[in-house]
Amino acid sequence: MSTASKGLEGIVAAETVLSFIDGEKGILEYNGIAINDLAKHSSFEEVAFLMLNKRLPKKPEFEAFITDLRGSYGLSDHTLSLIKSMPTTAQPMHMLRTMVSALAMEDPEPNSIDIPEVRVKAVRILAKAPTIVAAFDRLRRGLDIVSPDPSLSFAANFLYMLNAERPTHTMERAFDACMILHADHGLNASTFTCRVITSTLSDIYSAITGAIGALRGPLHGGANEGVMHMLNEIDSPEEAEQFVMNKLAARDRIMGFGHRVYKSYDPRATYLKTLAEQLATDTGNADLYAKSSAIEKTMAREVASKGIYPNVDFYSATTYHSIGLKLDLFTPMFALSRISGWAGHALEQLDGNRLIRPSADYVGPHNTQYLPIEQR
Ligand code: ACO
Repeated sequence: MSTASKGLEGIVAAETVLSFIDGEKGILEYNGIAINDLAKHSSFEEVAFLMLNKRLPKKPEFEAFITDLRGSYGLSDHTLSLIKSMPTTAQPMHMLRTMVSALAMEDPEPNSIDIPEVRVKAVRILAKAPTIVAAFDRLRRGLDIVSPDPSLSFAANFLYMLNAERPTHTMERAFDACMILHADHGLNASTFTCRVITSTLSDIYSAITGAIGALRGPLHGGANEGVMHMLNEIDSPEEAEQFVMNKLAARDRIMGFGHRVYKSYDPRATYLKTLAEQLATDTGNADLYAKSSAIEKTMAREVASKGIYPNVDFYSATTYHSIGLKLDLFTPMFALSRISGWAGHALEQLDGNRLIRPSADYVGPHNTQYLPIEQR
């Protein structure tokens, strides 16, 4: 009889000090600090330091960190020419995955597994990924690339490079909060991918490239784009209930709902719901919020008893749309933030590494006679 846990549910495969999740009570903490406190009072740059160093920075450390991070926003001519050579029809997640992989080729020591050196590489990847996404997006829109501005925060600089104008304080704060909320989340599928690759003593570029590939799946980070497609399919808030009922009757999944770990409200969704409502109202997208709200109401009535609630992806769709981001940039936004968490896990994995190599239950036949091809 098979002893495998389908989807590895309930299997503990690593130790971490980065994030703690209580799925029953709806708690998420980064290194012991409630996610809500971080979203309200911290910044993504501070959270990124936490991910890479397992604690919040002291003031001089933070200053040094942001100088380093912001000083690494720029891309080499080689990287820029690679982005320019991409088909403008490429999906941004495929482009980002390819470009993170390509960054390894201009690193003279890409394979180093020395922890401080890997931390430095991680800061570089984190800093350059938004520049890569913004440059590609502008090129495909037929616009000139906007060079990064190292005087701007991670969040403000990204929006500046995308739109060629500095974001308002409200937009910068909203986007920064989204980055904080997406930074880490236990041993999710992409983080596990990153740790598996790191455990072979492969390089940080490979680990993050693999993680980006895992993230883009519609059951994982790709769900935020699925949510937006769904919202676009529904013409008005009044039609949302029937839409959900039809999907559930067909046993289809409603994107942005359900979670392997949370059987109560995802605390990230709680924060994003408030943010989405504010931003949608301020930017003339109240209808989008109303549709989301109507979907949530119907899902609460129909499936909350099964522990299915909105996850991080549900209200991030309305939030990103209200910030003015194109639909196919939603999952790349998740990646820009999660690079910090992936890198943090890679560093944890390297510290006392053991190859991750689980077993499979063989369920096929034995003693099978080999038949020449003509006799099969
Ligand atoms: N809509 C409708 N029903 C759902 C949903 C949903 N979104 N999610 C789970 N269910 C139902 C399943 O149909 C199943 O019902 P059954 O027992 O009657 O067959 C039951 O809940 C359990 O579903 P599983 O797939 O076994 O749960 P699992 O823990 O493997 O799935 C997952 C978690 C993949 C996230 C799932 O909830 C899902 O597909 N959600 C939609 C996609 C999504 O939003 N993904 C983003 C997750 S958050 C993140 O990765 C950042």
